[in-house]
Amino acid sequence: MTEEIDLSGKDEGEKPKIDSSVPQTARVWNYWLGGKDNYAVDRALGDEITKAFPIMLDIARADRAVLNRAVRYLAGEAGVRQFLDVGTGLPTANNTHEVAQSVAPESRIVYVDYDPLVLVHARALLTSGPEGATDYIDADIRDTETILREAGRTLDFSKPVAVILSGILAHLPTVEEARDVVRRIMDVLPSGSYLVALDGANTNPELNQVMEIWNETANPPYTMRSPQEIRSYFDGLEFVEPGLVDVTVWRPDPSPSGPPPTLDNLVGVARKP
Ligand SMILES: C[S@@+](CC[C@H](N)C(=O)[O-])C[C@H]1O[C@@H](n2cnc3c(N)ncnc32)[C@H](O)[C@@H]1O
Repeated sequence: MTEEIDLSGKDEGEKPKIDSSVPQTARVWNYWLGGKDNYAVDRALGDEITKAFPIMLDIARADRAVLNRAVRYLAGEAGVRQFLDVGTGLPTANNTHEVAQSVAPESRIVYVDYDPLVLVHARALLTSGPEGATDYIDADIRDTETILREAGRTLDFSKPVAVILSGILAHLPTVEEARDVVRRIMDVLPSGSYLVALDGANTNPELNQVMEIWNETANPPYTMRSPQEIRSYFDGLEFVEPGLVDVTVWRPDPSPSGPPPTLDNLVGVARKP
């Protein structure tokens, strides 16, 4: 069944088709993060997976938390003022523009996703403060030509850009394709640009097994990769400390209870020399 949803608040363009019969990554992720932008099929799969592997909820929260810390680092210490967030997901707390503009109000952010429900919510991602700018591009990450052309409306590619690829590269079927997409984007950006990439690693047999449930049911499949494969996304770039590490270990906020357990999700932030 394909369901059309009411887009009466939308200014222009065709109504996207929302498929509410197959769980979709953006919507299940939204469910795990406590959001309301999901359907019964998404909740059913989300519950099946968290029943088998309750740590998935910690992973969802830890991934968002490290993204928040990485963007704060980039807008703060690294002085980046432009962000390209591909595979944005549904709006949640601390979206990239909110975090970046809370540090540097003049920050400019372009979001990209191909999920029609994210498109419906894109307006919520376009609430830039007056000193900065935000834009949304409805595109597949593989269509880097369109992404770079349209992002050029908002971003100045003669100045550094931080590219955020969080939870998206594993949705590409092969590591070669994922690496190629990263290279095509990073190649056009100047020295001083950054890549933030985050994905699940295949280092926990229980997590690997639960992702098989995902791959039998949901769209698109998610390919667990080795730490070496994930590291290869960063070829030619220089990691900032502490390198490619578990999401709980990347510059954690101080906590009285000490470091949280690792989650077999890796993140790296690296600079183009
Ligand atoms: C697991 S969610 C991650 C959301 C967000 N980046 C985060 O880390 O919280 C993956 C997102 O990538 C998007 N996505 C997956 N494959 C994509 C593709 N080929 N092109 C564009 N977006 C894609 C999905 O629609 C979804 O919003």
